Amino acid sequence: MDLTDQPTVLLPGDVRMPLLGFGTWQATGQAGYDAVLAALDTGYRHLDTATVYGNEREVGRALMESGLRREDVFITTKLPADRVGREQETLQASLEALGVDQVDLWLIHWPPSSPGDSIPLWRELLAARDENLTRAIGVSNYSTAQIDELIQSTEENPAVNQIRWSPALYDRQRHAEHRDRGVVLEGYSPFKASDLSDPVLTRIASAHGVSPAQVVLRWHIDHEIVVIPKSVTPERISANFDVFQFSLTAEEMRDIDALGEV
Ligand SMILES: NC(=O)c1ccc[n+]([C@@H]2O[C@H](COP(=O)([O-])OP(=O)(O)OC[C@H]3O[C@@H](n4cnc5c(N)ncnc54)[C@H](OP(=O)(O)O)[C@@H]3O)[C@@H](O)[C@H]2O)c1
Repeated sequence: MDLTDQPTVLLPGDVRMPLLGFGTWQATGQAGYDAVLAALDTGYRHLDTATVYGNEREVGRALMESGLRREDVFITTKLPADRVGREQETLQASLEALGVDQVDLWLIHWPPSSPGDSIPLWRELLAARDENLTRAIGVSNYSTAQIDELIQSTEENPAVNQIRWSPALYDRQRHAEHRDRGVVLEGYSPFKASDLSDPVLTRIASAHGVSPAQVVLRWHIDHEIVVIPKSVTPERISANFDVFQFSLTAEEMRDIDALGEV
């Protein structure tokens, strides 16, 4: 399966981002390498890492061992917000560890603790994109107000905001605020932020002969929200990718949305 066979969302600059990616937080060392290689063998074409995950080297090694072409795998890494003044050297270290010339998406991992750092930090991301060290840039854990501050100061919107998201956290208005600004919503911790024994999820899962975890992932994809489940367990790595054989009805989508609206 190559990138064009999977549902994707288009970022500025004609960058195609697969809606389903593979999370790698806490997947380190040999287990991290094995998990990423298994994910690529399974068909994932989108990997999510970060400077602070301490696994960029394993992610890069798995990518190389997979035999896939660099352009067929979408790679995100993230800049710790406390690296103000050291942004470019941090990105260079990420590129070197990953063994690539360019990442597909570089995110500010969390808003800087000093609000005055926000715009200078964002300008460093713009510069890295303009130097082709990353194809797209974005943020993580930003509020809508923090995104608006970047847009107002630079007239450049983040392509993506990666935030904690799940059916239980569903917030229609926040989703719309992202859409209105041309910012793709990317959800993290889809399972940790879910009750996989919730009766709504188990009912819909049995109707489709799938697991509640697969329903959670499919719900993101049907909302065009990027989702990046993590697993180091081979059966889960493949089950979490096996979500393209079914889709949810409009009524099921509404029932799942309602889990976050109570
Ligand atoms: N930007 C940020 O601040 C931020 C914060 C958190 C996460 N993230 C990113 O988002 C990714 C996903 O979030 P996450 O790792 O926090 O949590 P997650 O993907 O919601 O959950 C991972 C946990 O769920 C288990 N799991 C995996 N598949 C499962 C399944 N089918 N059924 C039941 N349990 C399953 C995993 O166990 P095993 O591994 O043992 O199989 C692991 O314990 C991260 O890896 C990271 O890339 C970003």
